Amino acid sequence: MTIEIKLVTKKPVKTQLHALVTPSDKILDLPAGINKEFLESRGFDGEAGQILFTQLPEGPIALLGVGESENLEHRNYRQAGTKLLREVKNFRSVSVDFGGHFNKEVDQPSATQAFLEGALLGAYEFTQLKSKPKKSSLKTLAIVGSGQKVKKAISRAESIALGVNLARDMVNLPGGDLTPIAFSRKATAIAKEKKLSIKILDAAAIKKAKMGGILGVNRGSTQQPRFVQLSYKPQKPSGKHLVLVGKGVTFDAGGLSIKTAQGMSTMKCDMGGAAAVLGAMSTLNELAPSVRVTGLMPLTDNMLGGDATRPGDVLRIKNGKTVEVLNTDAEGRLILADALSVASAMKADAIIDLATLTGACMVALGNQYAGLMGTDSDLIEAIENSSKETGEEVWHLPLPKAYRSQLDSDVADVKNIGTNWGGALTAGLFLKEFISEETPWAHIDIAGPAFADSPWGEHPKGGTGFGVRLLVNVIENL
Ligand code: BES
Ligand code: ZN
Ligand code: ZN
Repeated sequence: MTIEIKLVTKKPVKTQLHALVTPSDKILDLPAGINKEFLESRGFDGEAGQILFTQLPEGPIALLGVGESENLEHRNYRQAGTKLLREVKNFRSVSVDFGGHFNKEVDQPSATQAFLEGALLGAYEFTQLKSKPKKSSLKTLAIVGSGQKVKKAISRAESIALGVNLARDMVNLPGGDLTPIAFSRKATAIAKEKKLSIKILDAAAIKKAKMGGILGVNRGSTQQPRFVQLSYKPQKPSGKHLVLVGKGVTFDAGGLSIKTAQGMSTMKCDMGGAAAVLGAMSTLNELAPSVRVTGLMPLTDNMLGGDATRPGDVLRIKNGKTVEVLNTDAEGRLILADALSVASAMKADAIIDLATLTGACMVALGNQYAGLMGTDSDLIEAIENSSKETGEEVWHLPLPKAYRSQLDSDVADVKNIGTNWGGALTAGLFLKEFISEETPWAHIDIAGPAFADSPWGEHPKGGTGFGVRLLVNVIENL
């Protein structure tokens, strides 16, 4: 489905439906024919998230509540966009008039971007595997407004939404379809289309590079592993270099420490970190930030074939550290250990990793918050600020020194699990073992928000593309 977004200056706009954005304290400024009694009778008071359809002599109208005009926020516009697009699938063309309802923080370009992100993400459906997909009739969305800045906001929103929806598609593809090789092929196609450079290590190259974590996790699989490295080089470089790392477990059965049937049922989502890195990087040539960005995606599934890594086996990670694997289901940290070793050797200005890493993080924060950990308060703060702008919630968790000894192993340098408690934190502490002291590093555990069991916010069921907008925002503000 592609929806064409247009900017229209002149009124009346010739679309089948007109949507009017209205704050709760401005509902009486609406066009003739919409009066207080009518709105009251239909229960519409302009609160954020409300929508009301009605008919005026000039045609069908939708009213979109965005809450009090004093407290307008981007999230209100995002929510309005999602609401509208979910309800208008039977119209061919829809126009949106913001009615000049802006303020200092929320101006027309940023409101337009937020609204369109909400709209394009809200309209998403994963239909690739349906033999008769239901088609939405919506072809055109017209934004009433003018100026270069609004035009730019439209193309920004389109490219960001495309990146998020790419990540969603990849998460939604079953583990049997999106193998590591299939993922790397998709990354190659995206790199070509979006003018990024790409380097792919195949199984032999991964062996040669001594990435013992990826090899160890891959041992139980008939699918070959891959290690994808994408790079974006800015036209006007600031000199800064950011490395993004995404967990790419294309299916997590748990290995010999096998998951339950229920625990396994959504584990095609376990490459959500790698998908978010790919989705974010797909936008960079269009958004043209000045930082250099490298994306690292270690890719394998976690199966339990006859030669699978056994509990008690010891792996040697890329940076030379040895790991005793006491639970093969704690596999994400093993492949990330290799990738973070590579990232550390790049001596970048910062490393951020995204991973569907622990069930413990979901227990702590539920499914709409990611856990945020790291070694550098400025980087943490930058991510928290971006999170406020994009609405992708993060919560800062500690990396307690006192818990580090839980990872002491009797036979190797470290073991891959701690005690039963605080699993998100011991996972973070494990990753920290592979980060060089000089490089600021942040870890985002997206086990909760990467996959929606039921719709929330702008997300339908399934892959959410969580982290794409967050990463893009961090990159642009670095
Ligand atoms: N991929 C899972 C974490 C996960 C769980 C992601 C639920 C999304 C939803 C990860 O590889 C895992 O299995 N972690 C174990 C670690 C444990 C064995 C220390 C977990 O959380 O149970
Ligand atoms: Zn696992
Ligand atoms: Zn996993």
